[in-house]
Amino acid sequence: MSGATDDHSSAGAIDLRSDTVTRPTAAMLEAMRTAPLGDDSRDGDPTVVRLERLAAAMVGKEAALFVPSGTMGNLLAVLAHVRPGHDVLVDPLAHLATSEIAGLVGVAGVVPRSVASRAGCYDLAALAAALATAPAGRVGAGLVWLETSHNGAGGRVVPVDHVGEVGAMARRRGVPVHLDGARLFNAAVALGVPAATIAAPVDSVMVCVSKGLSAPVGSLLAGSVAFVARARALRRMLGGAMRQAGVIAAAGLVALETMIDRLAQDHAVARRLAAGLAGLEKTLVDPATVETNMLRLDVSRTRHDAEAWAAALARHGILVQASGAAQLRLVTHRHIDPAAADRVIAAFAAAA
Ligand SMILES: Cc1ncc(COP(=O)(O)O)c(C=O)c1O
Repeated sequence: MSGATDDHSSAGAIDLRSDTVTRPTAAMLEAMRTAPLGDDSRDGDPTVVRLERLAAAMVGKEAALFVPSGTMGNLLAVLAHVRPGHDVLVDPLAHLATSEIAGLVGVAGVVPRSVASRAGCYDLAALAAALATAPAGRVGAGLVWLETSHNGAGGRVVPVDHVGEVGAMARRRGVPVHLDGARLFNAAVALGVPAATIAAPVDSVMVCVSKGLSAPVGSLLAGSVAFVARARALRRMLGGAMRQAGVIAAAGLVALETMIDRLAQDHAVARRLAAGLAGLEKTLVDPATVETNMLRLDVSRTRHDAEAWAAALARHGILVQASGAAQLRLVTHRHIDPAAADRVIAAFAAAA
């Protein structure tokens, strides 16, 4: 693969479909081989305990729980915070609303209620109204949802002040706030602040080590000791209690300890892509909106729809994700270097 930075990236295409395609580093594989292990759901796994403590400290919460996926972490947050029949106030472009709705409704029995938002930030007047009222026949808000960096908004970063304002508004109404921080560390690097600063106003936060941080598996759900104890019991209920989970937690530790600062490189490659693609066709993307490792290209004013673009680029060995008819998602990561970005720009020019 072009742009590979160590020996465990796969050969072949330039894969921009997601940062989840990142392979574990050599240091992760070595840590996995040598990690002290136990039975996490019987009497504890020391490597999982280390990862949970480190993650909790990094996001500024009392405790954390290691879970197999971001989806499970978010679902556990809903189950732990919200009683069935209540609403989750959510930005309609949040990953919860676009991709996790079946678990929210089908497993948690919780109702999504959309609140007007832009680039991951709520219209605060609309949020205040949603917190103050319940639609006819509904119980009312049980949770407010935030996401940063914001996948559906093209990796946009929610300003720290906005998280604070949302937290304060919800607290006044006695409603908890959960932050989907699948890419919280990208947001922290982009803002130049600790992840804990962003997460300070929220009650719980989920972070993934399996995305741009390159660990093969895993996410962490953090919050108060009482919240995490409840989530731990619910994780068992969902079948998410694991055994020698230190094997994968070991890679997560390397991710948190060594892989965060380099996310700035992924952001620089994303900006390079945005500048090059906007140079070809300015309606594709506004480079000023590319804040982290993601681009959402608007192909509606080109001659191809998104599927046709994806197919044409695949013929050049470049994999991108079509999102509806009008949008392509490109995600940069450890295996995409500046030279790979330049090949992508050249392929777009050729495919146009
Ligand atoms: C913002 C966001 N939240 C949650 C998830 C779910 O994570 P997972 O794929 O580990 O279930 C994703 C996955 O891409 C995501 O982008």
